[in-house]
Order: sequence, then structure tokens, then C-alpha cells
Amino acid sequence: MASFDVIIIGGGPGGYVCAIRCAQLGLKTAVVEGREALGGTCLNVGCIPSKALLHATHALHEAEHNFAKMGLKGKSPSVDWPQMLAYKDEVIEGNTKGIEFLFKKNKITWLKGWGSIPAPGQVKVGDEVHEAKNIVIATGSEPSSLPGAEIDEKTVVTSTGALALSKIPKSLVVIGAGVIGLEMGSVYARLGAEVTVVEYLDAITPGMDAEVAKTFQRILSKQGLKFVLGAAVQGVTTKGGKAKVTYKLRKNDSEAVLDADCVLVATGRKPFTEGLGLEALGVEMEKRGQVKTHHFATTVKGLYAIGDAIVGPMLAHKAEDEGMALAEILAGKSGHVNYDVIPGVVYTTPEVASVGKTEEQLKEAGRAYKVGKFSFMGNGRAKAVFQSEGFVKILADKDTDRILGAHIIGPMAGDLIHEVCVAMEFGAAAQDLALTCHAHPTYSEAVREAALACGDGAIHA
Ligand code: NAI
Repeated sequence: MASFDVIIIGGGPGGYVCAIRCAQLGLKTAVVEGREALGGTCLNVGCIPSKALLHATHALHEAEHNFAKMGLKGKSPSVDWPQMLAYKDEVIEGNTKGIEFLFKKNKITWLKGWGSIPAPGQVKVGDEVHEAKNIVIATGSEPSSLPGAEIDEKTVVTSTGALALSKIPKSLVVIGAGVIGLEMGSVYARLGAEVTVVEYLDAITPGMDAEVAKTFQRILSKQGLKFVLGAAVQGVTTKGGKAKVTYKLRKNDSEAVLDADCVLVATGRKPFTEGLGLEALGVEMEKRGQVKTHHFATTVKGLYAIGDAIVGPMLAHKAEDEGMALAEILAGKSGHVNYDVIPGVVYTTPEVASVGKTEEQLKEAGRAYKVGKFSFMGNGRAKAVFQSEGFVKILADKDTDRILGAHIIGPMAGDLIHEVCVAMEFGAAAQDLALTCHAHPTYSEAVREAALACGDGAIHA
């Protein structure tokens, strides 16, 4: 038995970041992780591997569609799928080994195995029970199931199986037009699969600014993705390695069937807290399965929770911020997360990024706002790289000019959004961005132009 100041259960972005900060602040820290590698879903079967496949297939798309235009002639590359998967695995290993190195550097103990909490202040891993002044649940989430669809991770897959298919399917049905469905749908569409996305709601990416979502759907359709919206999937059957997806159109209850080589179920994720022993401890839970917390403290003394296991957007960076804030609190400092400024990014091409309020949210709140919009058509850099589709939209308070939200669809949107995040953290007005000199030629100029459009007008529009 060993004793620690903090034991964190889960070595994903929430857990490992919390551990590093705890160690930096002088706390004796251990992380319990049952996977072979640190990094959780994000590094092993989520954010990182999907970005590798998005990068590789984007490069293929460039070669097929844009190389000749730039005077780069010759045969387009052919796809060596096992090599692409090996590249993805190498990227994963490089990242997970990096976390292992950081653990050694910060003298964090990795308790290998799956942890449970037999009593307050105790964590059991295998046959050993360790003691901790503070225990942190950072166990993340798992794909939620879809009634009538049995996952075998071969023909009917979650995001995990979709990252390691034995071959590229000729046809792929994606259930759910959320982030996972569209990112992985893009990967396989670029690899030549016929991709059909079936979505329950009447628009893709629920919660996203409606104007952006509409443009996004139009662009993805042009890239070959097919959409069936307003359709509730009734069930998925498989036979001989093929699948049939039955759905009902909500507007008229008519039923239809789609045949596919592979079906990706991407209908959301749910908190993963099974096997921790929370019920026996009397930990209060939310209705939707998250651990109930107040400033990360659960209803049991000395037990905390962060990340996907608690309420809020299921995003790695939200978990990381919570991990850091909690570490500060455990070290006797004040930790804080500003939930009003958490960016969200979809890593398709073009990328889609947002922060703060959408127009729909502002309307619903009855808030007077103004819109500054700028199309990438007016951005020289974007035009030079065939990425002039999309726009930047900044929403600002009508009277005070304070930035309330920003929504970007276009090149490097996932990076551009942070300029607005920083501005919002400082309580900036749109004019503050508009008066900041931006280097030319950069995509960032489009952000400045949108800010200018909140005032007297953009220059290149
Ligand atoms: P999601 O919640 O983003 O989207 C699920 C979609 O499935 C919704 O549009 C929903 O209406 C639809 N749906 C649900 N049941 C359905 C049915 N029976 N028939 C048809 N459609 C149905 O969930 P997703 O994409 O699985 O992602 C899970 C979580 O992981 C999200 O919280 C997401 O933010 C996060 N994530 C974030 C990424 C990023 O930041 N780039 C990448 C991947 C995942």
C-alpha cells in the first residue's frame, strides 16, 4: 500500500493534465490507468488518431483535386491503407509516450490497472489498496448505444472501430451528423467510400450557429457526402459482413432502408463511471449519468470529478482546464474555468470553429446584438490555396460592442478562433480586434475584417 496526496482515476486529457499540475504544485500524485498507454480516448482512439487520418486524406484530396491546378502534374498517389493505419498508430505512440515521459519528469506514479473506490480515501487497483487525501474521477466517456444496433466494431462500429477498419468500405452509413460522424465521414468520403449521413434532427451539428451549419452541410454535400435529415434510425441488421440500416422519416413516418459495407454509430457519448463503486459510496449523480459536482467536489468528502464524467461539453480541452483548476484548488489556491469561453472545433476541411453564443441563443435570450461577417472570398491567402469558401462571423453587443461569440467556417478555423477567445477573456469589444494590426497575407485578416464589419464596415467586402 502506498499513500498519496492525490490519486486520479483516468489518464486522459483531464486526468493527466490534473496530475501534472498537482505534481508541479508539490502534491504527491498517482494516476490509475488500465489501458496499455496513457492519454485516454483522446490520444488512443479519438482526437489524435482521427486528426492523423484527416491529415492523410486531406493530402490525398489536394493531390487529386488541386495539384494539377498548381502545375504539379503526374499520377495521384494511390492509397496504401495498412500504411495509413500504421502512420496513425505511430502518431498515437509518439503522443502517448510523450505523456509517459512527462509523468517521469514530474515524478507521477502510474498505477497500472482499473481502479475502484472501496471507501472514501482509498483506491483499489488490482489486489492493492492505496490511500489518498484526495481522489479525482477523470474516467471520461464511452460511445452511447443505439437501440436496435449491435456494435461488433467490424461492420457496425463506433468511432473506435472506425479508426481501424480492416479495409476501406465501398459504402458507409453514418448515424448521427455530430462531430464524430462528420469527421470520420469526411475521411472515408475522401478515400472513395459512398458516405450517407442519417441524422434525427433537421440540421447537422446540433447546437452550432444555424447559418454556419447550413453552409457546412452545403460544402460537405459538394464533397460527396449525402445527408438524410429528420430521420430516426430504427435498427441495423448485419449479414455476411454487410449491413442494412432502417430509418423512418419524421415528417411522414415513411420507412426506408440503406445498404452499407459499414455503419458508424455516432449518436453521442455517455459518462463512463462503471465499476468505480460510486453507488455504494453514495455519490450523487445527475439524471443523465454524470457525477454531480460543485466546483468539482462530489457529494462525498475528498472525492472530486472532472471532464466528460461531469456536466458540460464533452471536449478534451474542457477536461484539461478542469484538471488544472482542480489541481490549483487541491493545492490551496483558487482554480477557475470560464465556461463562457470554451471553443469547439470540427476538423473537417474546411474547419468549423465557434466560441461563445450563437445567434439563436442571443435571440432566445432577447439580447440586442450586431453581426460582423466576412467571407474568405475576400481573403487573398485563402484564395491562393483554394480555400475561399466559408466566412467569419462575430457577434457583438449592440450597445457596448463587447464580443459575445464568434463562428468561423474556413481554413484553419480551429486556430483562428483563439484570437477571439483571448479577446473575449479580456472582455474585448469588436473594435479592439478591428484596431489590432494583422499581418498580411494571413487567414487571421478575415477575423479582423469581421470585427471591422461590426463597426463601420470591412475593407475587402
Ligand atoms: P454528437 O452529440 O455531437 O452528435 C450526435 C448526433 O446523433 C446528433 O446530431 C443527434 O441528433 C444524432 N442522433 C442521435 N440519435 C439518432 C438516431 N437514432 N438516428 C439518427 N440520428 C441520431 O455526438 P458524437 O458526434 O457521437 O460525438 C460525441 C462527443 O464527442 C461530442 O460531445 C463531441 O463534442 C465529442 N467530440 C468532439 C470532437 C471535436 O471536438 N473535434 C471530435 C469527436 C468527438
